[in-house]
Amino acid sequence: MDNRPIGFLDSGVGGLTVVRELMRQLPHEDIIYIGDSARAPYGPRPAEQIREYTWQLVNFLLTKNVKMIVFACNTATAVAWEEIKASLGIPVLGVILPGSSAAIKVTQTKKVGVIATPMTVKSDIYKEKVQLLAPDISVMSLACPRFVPLVESNETTSSVAKKVVYETLAPLVGQVDTLILGCTHYPLLRPIIQNVMGPGVKLIDSGAETVRDISVLLNYFEINRSREVQGKKDCFYTTAGVASFQEIAESWLGKSIRVEHVNLEEVLND
Ligand code: DGL
Repeated sequence: MDNRPIGFLDSGVGGLTVVRELMRQLPHEDIIYIGDSARAPYGPRPAEQIREYTWQLVNFLLTKNVKMIVFACNTATAVAWEEIKASLGIPVLGVILPGSSAAIKVTQTKKVGVIATPMTVKSDIYKEKVQLLAPDISVMSLACPRFVPLVESNETTSSVAKKVVYETLAPLVGQVDTLILGCTHYPLLRPIIQNVMGPGVKLIDSGAETVRDISVLLNYFEINRSREVQGKKDCFYTTAGVASFQEIAESWLGKSIRVEHVNLEEVLND
């Protein structure tokens, strides 16, 4: 047993799609979440900067004494997961392997699409991971740089959002039977994405797949939170304004949560 919280990081509100699934599958675990909305989106930034920011988020979570860290961000996983995982003494999970395996299981036509941020697409990591296990599957990747700003500004159902999704996904329509949502922000746009791709296309939510792996690791290392401990101490930190984060988060999670602003420079230089 280990009653410490699980730490989640993302460039903003996207990682909440992983958290919602965690609350459903593992409701007893405590959560510490850090979303770097002040510096989102990460996707168009240079790899070195994404690595630096990701380290800051990790170091912040370590100050909260977490027992495991989940990179609830594909971009951070693509750029910094291997390096950071190798340097920490606690389990560190990314979202890319679970999403890749799920797509391999689901595709019938062996034509898989990946939508993600410019950095994740540039890294070609989904294609690499899918084809490592299933070389006969073709993978088409498409960067969707306009999606994260829509989600961060809580514009997930507007007519602008519909137009942007429709225009961006056009090259993939009719080309694949399975589409990996390779950015944790994208499940917030899921109804529009499904509508544009058509009802026959299976959407893979990498975040949701990741929670199965979290559960396996908790069992493997015997670090589940004890059922005897009552109450939850979940806390969500944002580097930007509390009100906007709270509004998006509570509507997505369907419950009220504690949100605090954090100044990373101040905390990490203390
Ligand atoms: N949620 C992040 C991801 O999964 C978004 C990255 C961004 O801020 O561009 O990649």
